Parts: sequence; C-alpha cells; structure tokens
Amino acid sequence: MKTNVWAVDKLVDKLESYPQIIQAADYLKNNEVIAFPTETVYGLGGNAENSDAVAKIFAAKGRPSDNPLIIHIAETSQLNDFVTEVPAKAASLMEHFWPGPLTIIFKKKEGKLSELATAGLSTVAVRMPNHPVALGLIKACGLPIAAPSANTSGKPSPTLARHVFEDLNGRIAGIVDGGPTGVGVESTVIDCTDEIPAILRPGGVTKEQIEAVIGEVSVDPALKNSEAAPKSPGMKYRHYAPDAPFYLVEGSHAFLQKLVDEKRREGRKVGVLTTAEAAGDYQADLVLACGRRGELETVATSLYETLRAFNDSEVEVIFSETFPEVGVGVAIMNRLSKAAGNQVIYEKS
Ligand code: TXA
Ligand code: MG
Repeated sequence: MKTNVWAVDKLVDKLESYPQIIQAADYLKNNEVIAFPTETVYGLGGNAENSDAVAKIFAAKGRPSDNPLIIHIAETSQLNDFVTEVPAKAASLMEHFWPGPLTIIFKKKEGKLSELATAGLSTVAVRMPNHPVALGLIKACGLPIAAPSANTSGKPSPTLARHVFEDLNGRIAGIVDGGPTGVGVESTVIDCTDEIPAILRPGGVTKEQIEAVIGEVSVDPALKNSEAAPKSPGMKYRHYAPDAPFYLVEGSHAFLQKLVDEKRREGRKVGVLTTAEAAGDYQADLVLACGRRGELETVATSLYETLRAFNDSEVEVIFSETFPEVGVGVAIMNRLSKAAGNQVIYEKS
C-alpha cells in the first residue's frame, strides 16, 4: 500500500476545510487508517464505528486484540452517541482538561461503536486532543476516531511524523505531518465509572492537577506493584522498549559511569540517557541529553525521540538516570520502567 504524506501547517485557520485535511478525512470516511499528530504523540486513526477500519489499526500496529483503543472526539456532543452517562466528576474534568491530554473512561452505550475498538468491554475510553490538526481532521470527517499511538506495538510512541513513517510506511493509507507533538508522553487515563475515580495510566495531566479539580482520586495498584493485574489492558505489555537492553540506575553519576566502564572493558558499545545538566559528566559511546532535569516537561517532550535515537545507533546496552516521581515525572518513570522491564540497578549506600 502507498502511504501518502501530507504536510500541514498547524497554525492555518479552519484546518477542517484545508485540502490536505479533507483528503485525509476522505480516507477515514472510506474506512482506511491515517496517522495524525496530537499534543501528546502521533495517533493512528480509524473510523470507530466500523470494524473493518478498526481491524486495520490493530493489523498495522501488530497490536493484541484484547487492548482497547481510545476514541477521539472534537465536540463533547459526540459523546451522547456512545456513552450512557457523564458523571459529575467526569464533567468537571472535561471542563478543565478538554481539549487536552486526559482520557476519561465512561460506561459504554451499546450499538454505535465497533466492538473491536473497545475490545468487547462495557466501558469506553474517550479524549478530546488539544491539537488543531487532530481536531480539524475529526471535524472534517464527522466521525469518532479510534486511535492508539501510531507506533509498531512495543516500540516507543512516535512524536514526529518521521517515527510513524519508520514504523508504518506501506502499512497505512497516510500520515498527516503536523510537526513535533509537544507533551511527548501519552494522555493520563482516568476511570470515572466508580465514585472515586482511578488513574489507570499516568500521563500528560498530573494527579496533582486532577485532585485540585475533583478531590481525591485513587491510583491503580498495578502501577506500583508489577505482580497485580492492571485495570487498563494496555499497561500489562512491555512497551516503549529500545532494541538494546535498557537499565535504570539509581545512584550517583560516578556509579553510573562505573557501570559504563565495566561494559566497555568487555568491548560493548554503551549508551547513557541523561539530561542537559549532566551530559558532560559521562564518557560513553553515545551520551544523549533528554531535555533538562530542572524542567521535567522537557524530559517528557524528548523521551521517545531519545529512546528511538538509541535504536538508530550501534549501542549494545543503555544505562539511564532516574527522575523524581512528581508531576509529569510519574509518567516519565512509568514509561522508563516499562522500557527497562522494571530492571533497576541500585548503588549500595
Ligand atoms: O495520548 C494518547 O492517549 C495517545 C494519543 C494518540 O491520543 N493514544 C494512546 O493510545 O496512547 P494507546 O492505545 O497507545 O493507549 C490506550 C490505553 C491503553 O493502555 C488501553 O489499554 C487503555 O488506554 N484503555 C482503552 N480503553 C480502555 C478501557 N475501556 N478501560 C481501561 N483501559 C482502557
Ligand atoms: Mg501506545
């Protein structure tokens, strides 16, 4: 299949009537799948009402079919078609964080959405992305759009159109290139079907921000304890993994450098994931600064691009610094821990 690439300037007014967007929307209406930018990562979209379209998403990514998709909308009125009720706390969250990187789980109204999109669950995950290209595309086709991240399953999510192209060229009908995404980690997923909402995946909106709006929320215990079964099916898979073995290192820069030196003495090519502040402290085959530690948002923005850059290099093992689990640091550490398959090396004190 030929994969079209449409470059679109996200600053253009009325994107829903822009020729490239209309072309991409026509593919969606014809039940083909199209990658597009959101403020978090690129998504791979398809008509959520049509099982042929949704099946193409799963096939292109190689995604397990028990892992449901997020339904993307551009107007809250679209919710009525496939959600039974909007609880008061969910309504407050929508008002504060939509459009934005927050996915809300509702009880599903039967009949409208493809069963494949929700993996047969009685609930449905919905978000309104805060990106003019995503919103323009959804408006132009007038459909709810099912969209997982537009990467091959297991790989780091794409934050540039180039990443999508590398993973999915020839497997999808097109890519709308709207430039780099921004937030860099996926949306926070919050289940609002219980009295106390529960965060199932940490992401672009922090727990602190959510609690400031609706009060106490819980966090799925599986996020802390790798033995427990996660409530969000996607969280059980190894994810975001670079090709080379990847280790988190809890300790000083000197300790991390010692680990690098040991591997290099064995003749291995070694990578280090650090930040701009400390990049000069390490000697390795590839030292990558992932944003600035003093501003964790910049680490989130660069995270997946950095993991992909290790894949494009010759390194055979990667050691990474850890980050404080506050604010967006929770999402960063969640993704890094998954990339590392939970392997952490601690400096003995
Ligand atoms: O930022 C994002 O959320 C990006 C962009 C493209 O919007 N999308 C994204 O989708 O990250 P995906 O498919 O990679 O992750 C969706 C997550 C998975 O962990 C999935 O299991 C969970 O949401 N999920 C979807 N529906 C669910 C449901 N009904 N109950 C629990 N978890 C659900
Ligand atoms: Mg994903």
